[in-house]
Amino acid sequence: MANENYPYEIKVVELKGTTHKLPVIVRIGPKGYVIHEKFKHAAADVYNMEVRSSDVFVASFPRSGTTWTQEMVWLIVSDFDYERALNIPLTERYAFFEFFSSFDDGIKMKLLDANKDDEAKIKEIELIFKPATEILETTPSPRFIKTHLPLSLMPRKALEAKVVYVARDPRDAIVSLYLLVNSMRHMKLEDDFKTFWNTFVNNLQPWTPYFDHVKEAWEKRDHPNMLFLFYEDMRKDLPSVVRRVSDFFGKKYNEEEIARLCDHLSFDNFEKNSSVNFDLMKELGFMDADKPFIRKGKSGVWRDYFDEEMTAESDKWIEENLRDTDLRYPSMQ
Ligand code: A3P
Repeated sequence: MANENYPYEIKVVELKGTTHKLPVIVRIGPKGYVIHEKFKHAAADVYNMEVRSSDVFVASFPRSGTTWTQEMVWLIVSDFDYERALNIPLTERYAFFEFFSSFDDGIKMKLLDANKDDEAKIKEIELIFKPATEILETTPSPRFIKTHLPLSLMPRKALEAKVVYVARDPRDAIVSLYLLVNSMRHMKLEDDFKTFWNTFVNNLQPWTPYFDHVKEAWEKRDHPNMLFLFYEDMRKDLPSVVRRVSDFFGKKYNEEEIARLCDHLSFDNFEKNSSVNFDLMKELGFMDADKPFIRKGKSGVWRDYFDEEMTAESDKWIEENLRDTDLRYPSMQ
């Protein structure tokens, strides 16, 4: 399906032997990135999107601290406009490139039906199912964009704007992703965690292969418009990450302002903040009401989920994938 508008081949693949709720996926480009099938209609629009130099992209592999990074970046760029941050959900402040493709149209119909008496909710659902490139055409600058796409599938001119990429120990991200998928009403899997892990390392889960995703961004970490962060560094020393992000956006803030932002971003405040904690997704019926999106906020929790065999497999997987790169995770030093 590669053509003059899109340099990559898009292969439609039916996944067998897994309990994916959307078993037909696409594999894109030489790395074979797995994305939900509906994305094939948006891939070229995303890639060729007109980028403004003021655009701000926050990119990551899912469950790597994206939401946390988004809020930090938004407030730093917006000169600490806490009022808007607390009143406008993060999902409205950021367009999310590929989110619409994670749900099929049958789900949209069900959600619209369940919320048919509530105009505001209908509007939100319509917005979620709209490709982000359409929304962005009329969004005033600076535009904020969230994506789990790897750099090569993002707009080809993304680095003419600013890109913040956040990475996390993949073992923690995988556990967190498994629990999230099972809190999304229309995505729940029958698989146990071990099966999920196996499909993940065999690159059968959306947005895999994981290490190619991270390495693409890592290779660009010295580009003046790319900032590469680790979740573990944010947990260890948030003020110094806030200073790095502020420098990256050419902002000068004093220690008091930085301390206030860190307090706003603290796990305890974050999980209670309905502008960022995905309460809206629960109200609309996407997520189970009793399962948190902002969950534990810890590092190393994977140890509670990996048995000996999976631990040995993950050691090997990580070792093999870090062999040809100087990418090193703070949690693995
Ligand atoms: P856990 O499920 O391990 O708790 P994403 O936003 O990319 O989906 O990442 C979600 C992960 O980031 C979740 O991890 C979530 O708890 C964690 N997280 C979100 N906000 C956080 C915060 N303020 N402090 C620490 N971790 C946070």
